[in-house]
Amino acid sequence: MNSKQAPIEEAILEKGIDLHQLPVHVAIIMDGNGRWAKQRLLNRINGHEKGAETVRSIVTTSRELGIPTLTLYAFSTENWQRSTLEVSALMSLLKKFLESEKPVMMENGIRLNAIGQLERLPHDVRNVLYQTIAATRNNPGMVLNLALSYGGRAEIVRMTRILAEKAAAGSLDPQSITEETVSAHLYTHNLPDPDLLIRTSGEMRISNFLLWQIAYSELHITRTLWPDFSRDEYLDILKDYQQRDRRFGNA
Ligand code: IPE
Ligand code: IPE
Ligand code: MG
Repeated sequence: MNSKQAPIEEAILEKGIDLHQLPVHVAIIMDGNGRWAKQRLLNRINGHEKGAETVRSIVTTSRELGIPTLTLYAFSTENWQRSTLEVSALMSLLKKFLESEKPVMMENGIRLNAIGQLERLPHDVRNVLYQTIAATRNNPGMVLNLALSYGGRAEIVRMTRILAEKAAAGSLDPQSITEETVSAHLYTHNLPDPDLLIRTSGEMRISNFLLWQIAYSELHITRTLWPDFSRDEYLDILKDYQQRDRRFGNA
């Protein structure tokens, strides 16, 4: 944490953030670690290391504000195509993050959840992940939801297979399928849809993130690279969100 940073209460007052109008679910596409490193003539892995520090700061701020759910896109199904070196560095960073943050999550009442093809994660990472999910399961505070080996299309295919199998077995009438049925069979069945989706590093795309769930999310794309993303900018984005007129198709 930045030691020069003002207490969160002061920052909330200064920005004019209304704690009763916070998004219930913030989802973030944490992008730009590689470019951050390149700008400094470092390697991509240094960018991911610096990005992990931003994760800590944004998790802390979200918890302090009282945001109920924070989803972080940490690794996509497509990211498996990156070099073996980069993938293994990301996996070991993830493991280190889980190990170091477990006490922090316990102390702050944070409950860990994960979505994605978790079975594709290396054994040791999966073990730490499941242990941390189990240890934090009764924590009453924020849900920290990590999207790991996650792809929105793969999630929809999985949901379709589950429903098709139920229909074939005779336990589901196809005519009874509603939007709620679909939501209930996604990885996110236990979470509300995101109110706010933030993407760092300026790319104007979704990159296979939460395709179904973001139907009515407010979007915010910032050019800031993830390792440079600060509490100050996060608070500005939340303030901006509070000034939006969410209409959900109504006049
Ligand atoms: C985001 O940063 C982290 C992951 C996708 C794992 P990138 O690694 O995509 O960084 P850029 O987009 O190349 O700058
Ligand atoms: C999206 O970023 C995935 C994560 C942030 C984990 P990418 O860097 O993989 O997406 P593209 O390649 O820019 O679409
Ligand atoms: Mg990227």
